[in-house]
Amino acid sequence: MNPVNIVVLISGSGTNLQAIIDAVERGEINGRIAAVISNRPDAKGLERAQQHGLHTVVIDHRTFSGRDTFDAALQATIEQFQPALVVLAGFMRILTDGFVQHFSGRLLNIHPSLLPKFKGLNTHARALEAGEKEHGCSVHFVSCELDGGAVIGQARVAIAADDSADTLATKVQQLEHRLYPTCVKLFCAGQLQLTDNGALLDGKPLPLNGLDLTEAP
Ligand code: GRF
Repeated sequence: MNPVNIVVLISGSGTNLQAIIDAVERGEINGRIAAVISNRPDAKGLERAQQHGLHTVVIDHRTFSGRDTFDAALQATIEQFQPALVVLAGFMRILTDGFVQHFSGRLLNIHPSLLPKFKGLNTHARALEAGEKEHGCSVHFVSCELDGGAVIGQARVAIAADDSADTLATKVQQLEHRLYPTCVKLFCAGQLQLTDNGALLDGKPLPLNGLDLTEAP
């Protein structure tokens, strides 16, 4: 099977991008990163991509009149790279329904909570406030509902009595850096599909919480 073309969208530090780059370079993912696109010219992730010889593009959302025109430009740029997979890796923009529908089934996101818990922002503080015993992250297909698409996999960590939002964020990010490459690997191996009834792995429905990928598979 030919390597799958991947486009990664970022807005910031790009540590998840880095984890995916490293997994591709180790030969663990049957894919090639065709482009890294940032909506922020100062995103640290752009430097990471360039250090690995990857093609980078900046599409600064502030130069567009609105969400529709930005998303149209973003969609057209992504399609130039003919990706089988588009990876949102800390891409801090709400996407229009048209964009999401266009890429449906080939658009993944990582979210720092055990979905369906704590959609949206400030997930670590909210998990602490809610008195949760565990927390973690989820990789999911993107749907038009914010953080609401079919979950592919999750990784979990116990919340310690002395955890703060910051310590929890560090623990969850470490999990993210294993979880995201593993899910990208499954996708690029042709093992994942999105259907009207949810996500399938090897043709079989995944549980609502996806695979438990807390331990390295
Ligand atoms: C991650 O915590 C991810 O869960 C969230 O945005 C953050 C991105 O971090 N969606 P990075 O840019 O990959 O370092």
